[in-house]
Amino acid sequence: MTRRRKIYEGKAKVLFEGPEPGTLVQYFKDDATAFNNQKRGVITGKGVLNNRISEYLMLKLAEAGIPTHFVRRLNMREQLVKEVDIVPVEVVVRNIAAGSISQRFNIAEGTPLPRSIVEFYYKSDELGDPMVSEEHITAFGWAAPQEIDDILSLALRINDFLSGLFLGVGLKLVDFKLEFGRLYDDNDQVRIVLADEITPDGCRLWDVKTNEKLDKDRFRRDLGGVAEAYQEVARRLGIMPEAGPRDMKGPATVQ
Ligand SMILES: Nc1ncnc2c1ncn2[C@@H]1O[C@H](COP(=O)(O)OP(=O)(O)OP(=O)(O)O)[C@@H](O)[C@H]1O
Ligand SMILES: [Mg+2]
Repeated sequence: MTRRRKIYEGKAKVLFEGPEPGTLVQYFKDDATAFNNQKRGVITGKGVLNNRISEYLMLKLAEAGIPTHFVRRLNMREQLVKEVDIVPVEVVVRNIAAGSISQRFNIAEGTPLPRSIVEFYYKSDELGDPMVSEEHITAFGWAAPQEIDDILSLALRINDFLSGLFLGVGLKLVDFKLEFGRLYDDNDQVRIVLADEITPDGCRLWDVKTNEKLDKDRFRRDLGGVAEAYQEVARRLGIMPEAGPRDMKGPATVQ
């Protein structure tokens, strides 16, 4: 195993230098955090499942014409991605009221929203990821107006596609978080692509019939059965780790 340079360690993933320039390896950890890092824990097997789930969804989105950073899965916990210049804005798409929007506007959880709502949050752990408007994003230079347009249209296309995909396996896509980045091609042209991950860490997924939560809210709200919920999402998508649950503990971070 060659030693790779660690570029960044976040709360849920580690980024390593990739095998070729312009690539990175994303290693998915079992660590879980919530409420801006105030609650921490380990969800055994989460990294393995999230690696597979994000691979699956990014490949499906690519087939549907959405540009993404995903290149290929390398092993149980790692995937190769194209290095991008991350736009420091979390893009949240909401279809049904839950979490902060329910609190902010006093809307009962589970109420369908009049239409899908896109929200932006400035990526800053220090500030607790404050909600921002397009005005803040352009005034502070986090993204150009054209880039926001591209991000908005991609986010809505991704929402349409994923809502249908999840509905097909009996899951409601209540809301989800996306990150986008700037990808420079060989001619130094830049375009916005989907980056980071799409997993039950950043999505609310409810069973269509029972409204059972199959996402990180089980961890946030101490509902139990967290790993089982992630497994159920993977199972419904038709993904299971090669060697079954025995493999799920996985190795410690390899460097
Ligand atoms: N293709 C990419 N190129 C460069 N950086 C990326 C790419 N995809 C994701 N990232 C960044 O890699 C990091 C992934 O780590 P992780 O998700 O654990 O971070 P985090 O703890 O959520 O922290 P934060 O997102 O606030 O940095 C994130 O900072 C994310 O923005
Ligand atoms: Mg993250």
